[in-house]
Amino acid sequence: MSDITHPVPSKFAALANLSPAQYKETYARSIADPEAFWGEQAKRLNWMTAPTQIKDVSWDKSDLHVRWYADGILNVTENCLDRHLKTRGDKVAIIWEGDSPEESKTFTYRELHREVCRFANVMKANGAKKGDRITIYMPMIPEAAFAMLACARIGAVHSVVFGGFSPDALAGRIVDCDSTFVITADEGLRGTKRVPLKVNCDAACDIAAKAAKPVKTVLCVRRTGADVDWDADRDVWLDDAVQTVSDDCAPEPMNAEDPLFILYTSGSTGQPKGVLHTTGGYLVWASLTHEAVFDLKEDDVYWCSADVGWVTGHTYIVYGPLANGATTLMFEGVPTYPDASRFWQVCDKHQVSLFYTAPTAIRALMREGDGPVKATSRSSLRLLGTVGEPINPEAWEWYFNVVGETRCPIVDTWWQTETGGAMIVPLPGTTPMKPGSASLPFFGIEPALVDAEGNELFGAAEGNLIIKDSWPGQMRTVYGDHDRFVQTYFSTYPGNYFTGDGCRRDEDGFYWITGRVDDVINVSGHRMGTAEVESALVSHDAVAEAAVVGYPHDIKGQGIYAYVTTIPGSADDDALRSDLIKHVRREIGPIATPDLVQFAPGLPKTRSGKIMRRILRKIAENSFDALGDTSTLSDPEVVDDLIAKRMNRA
Ligand code: WTA
Repeated sequence: MSDITHPVPSKFAALANLSPAQYKETYARSIADPEAFWGEQAKRLNWMTAPTQIKDVSWDKSDLHVRWYADGILNVTENCLDRHLKTRGDKVAIIWEGDSPEESKTFTYRELHREVCRFANVMKANGAKKGDRITIYMPMIPEAAFAMLACARIGAVHSVVFGGFSPDALAGRIVDCDSTFVITADEGLRGTKRVPLKVNCDAACDIAAKAAKPVKTVLCVRRTGADVDWDADRDVWLDDAVQTVSDDCAPEPMNAEDPLFILYTSGSTGQPKGVLHTTGGYLVWASLTHEAVFDLKEDDVYWCSADVGWVTGHTYIVYGPLANGATTLMFEGVPTYPDASRFWQVCDKHQVSLFYTAPTAIRALMREGDGPVKATSRSSLRLLGTVGEPINPEAWEWYFNVVGETRCPIVDTWWQTETGGAMIVPLPGTTPMKPGSASLPFFGIEPALVDAEGNELFGAAEGNLIIKDSWPGQMRTVYGDHDRFVQTYFSTYPGNYFTGDGCRRDEDGFYWITGRVDDVINVSGHRMGTAEVESALVSHDAVAEAAVVGYPHDIKGQGIYAYVTTIPGSADDDALRSDLIKHVRREIGPIATPDLVQFAPGLPKTRSGKIMRRILRKIAENSFDALGDTSTLSDPEVVDDLIAKRMNRA
């Protein structure tokens, strides 16, 4: 926590789209009369049939539904592409910067329109149609955006799976949403590494087939030209197929509440759930938040360094910026390749003015010192943003002082896959900045803090963060499991949306997110369910039981700490430890790699057999002198053993 408040940099404030008074007035209006406010905001979009109904929401568990603009008809790509052609046809829509600094490309709005239409026609020619779920498993190449937009063009529902996930994780997502069409590439490139996407995709297709959910079409983009196995009945090269299709593809008329995409995300329990977002409300929300949060102006070059495999990539690389006719940069590589100046070199090369990244990247680069930053100009930058996890004040100050040279405001955006876009954020030019605080609610958002019993806390307080009313970008359901949606988000504090985050509110009404209060951990800004890692560990032959918790990690924010009870006769040695780590990487992907594995002959349990994670978290944090009450444990001695063999002594 930090007591410092930075005023809005004065030069920025003078030119900002919004003034402090406008923020206050607009926020008050959005809360007092949501119908009027969101009815007005719908006009940001081109509708084939304008909506007359604005908000139709019930958060009552017996009849839970979320609908916005329910009688409106539109197509997302008509809004992201066609409508810009008249005034912005020759404006650059996408700048693509390759893994190698030698490689980059641009696409104007006219070119992007053509690419998307052709991609959509290839999909149609291969049987894809409105309502189908299409899985996208791609590197950060322009075709990833074309694929998403092509789905939206024809009314298909995309499910993007991060390219770092394993075949198993990919297969699980393919099967869960009955997807029979997968779009991938031969390989991905990240730094010096090649990611075998087609190989993984083939393996995932085998797993899906065994689950009686065969994939019928794999559309493959040639990225590296690597040799790949080919199933002539199933696989299609994009570059072949695209030769024979037309440049025209009419946008499919979609109801505002038709699904746009599914994105799998981790929760407290079980396997990842398919967060479903729909068309009209999501796009209004993506477009408004993108414009306001980044103080967007016509000549900005905007870069969000996320991957399209995460929600940040959906809303703030593709849909928000393109709906707003902005120039959006896609980066294939990593921040440290060829060296730790890369981010800032890319900013100079493409004259980036708005830059958005994750605290984990900032911390990793901060460790390299100021030199790699100072070796670049960065004079084009006028605003910096962060997302994904709380930012520690030291990293904030470094970002502000060294990267932005105190002239760029920092927008610390708190939000979630479920919320579709930014919810709590210091709107630039309007809100003084407190390093580490996401600060104040966006238009239409009513956050509140509650205690464990659900009593609302007022004034300066700390509790669980809930949201009191709907907003257009809210997720609509868990795909295929509406009951899980209701249970996960609306049963803890009935009538309210529960975020899963803890939060403090200070005397000025600023919100400070303190992290997850459920069994989700945030590793390098990526959400990971401890239950998923546990189930991967337990699937190893040598493992009888596993419990996974997060612990503070200098760069990643949180690291993964696994307590593992092996079966009798196992050698609990380093060889097994590294085998277990490899196993988890294979089952889920490198982002789930356990940082520390402790062999534990027993785990602390209550007499009813429930693992006491509170104790495991404390030991993982190396703060075991405050373990609290252990008298309810069935076997208190195991705690002494766990402490004696703890892996984190920092
Ligand atoms: C965390 C990412 C503090 C939070 C857009 C949330 C943050 C989870 C911030 C959602 C922030 C995200 N400050 N914590 N600015 N942004 N979080 O679904 O715990 O990948 O619940 O969405 O990340 O992660 P998700």
